[in-house]
Amino acid sequence: MRITVLGSAAGGGFPQWNCNCRNCAGLRAGTLRTKARTQSSIFIRPDGGADGVLFNASPDILAQIRANPELQPGRALRDSAIAGVVLMDGQIDHVTGLFMLRERSRPAPERPGGRAPDPLPLWCTDAVAEDLTTGHPVFRVLGHYCGVDRHAIALDGTPFEVPGVPDLLFRAMPLDSKAAPYSPHRERGEPGDNLGITVTDRRSGGRLFYAPGLAAVTPAVFDAMSNADAVMVDGTFWTDDEMITTGAGPQRARAIGHLPQSGEGGMLEVMARLPAATRKLLIHINNTNPILDEDSAPRAEVARAGVEVCEDGMHIEL
Ligand code: MLT
Ligand code: MN
Ligand code: ZN
Repeated sequence: MRITVLGSAAGGGFPQWNCNCRNCAGLRAGTLRTKARTQSSIFIRPDGGADGVLFNASPDILAQIRANPELQPGRALRDSAIAGVVLMDGQIDHVTGLFMLRERSRPAPERPGGRAPDPLPLWCTDAVAEDLTTGHPVFRVLGHYCGVDRHAIALDGTPFEVPGVPDLLFRAMPLDSKAAPYSPHRERGEPGDNLGITVTDRRSGGRLFYAPGLAAVTPAVFDAMSNADAVMVDGTFWTDDEMITTGAGPQRARAIGHLPQSGEGGMLEVMARLPAATRKLLIHINNTNPILDEDSAPRAEVARAGVEVCEDGMHIEL
């Protein structure tokens, strides 16, 4: 399979529109060796197939599609390589792009204009579906456009497939992280608010464990990570108090569902226990994170640990 990193930043992107932290200001001024990033999303297609699966629909999706022509194979007047969308959570940075897919339609010669709305095939948990029909009623709004053909993701590891992409197999596990701030149950976390998903390519046997929002690595999560050829996980914050020390906000990383990379029990320590051959990648990187500065000491530490920092447009073959 081929994984394309459409966006590698956390909510807000990099630079964030209203932010003048060291990273955002340094990128704008050209004084920092770093790269701009859009909000986190990946696209996976099996070897030999044109169509694939979109993981999360970021507010930057239109720019991401333009930047990655493989998502627009141009086989018909209206076309897309996106066979379906899988949501890892209901956060704004992962679902707002669904509105941008509202024009989906199919040929319908019997109708005036010859086309009819074509509901978007979408997989998410019940907890996320509830948020997307209540606190942030994306599904109800899209009902007035193309509509959503929603499929439930089971939390017990039952594998699922996306029609049109038969070579890929998906298995989800609930994660300790956080529902979106608008969620009616933000402070009463439900299993399924956030997912980790293992994607297996049946032909190559390649396996990816993907978890862009992850607050704690339980034995079950570590087991899933250990069984993958590549892990692409939460790279939001370097330290637990990063928002506070940069003056960006009062929240601690763990309290808003993100395990920091550095320090005791941090993501780098977890990754060091993985098999040496495992490819280790960080995604969903917040604009305050010092690893975005390619000349920083934290970035050097990440590189020494054999861990890669995702960039927009990056491809991974498994
Ligand atoms: C998060 O994952 O915590 C989000 O990126 C926050 C947000 O979307 O503002
Ligand atoms: Mn996010
Ligand atoms: Zn910033």
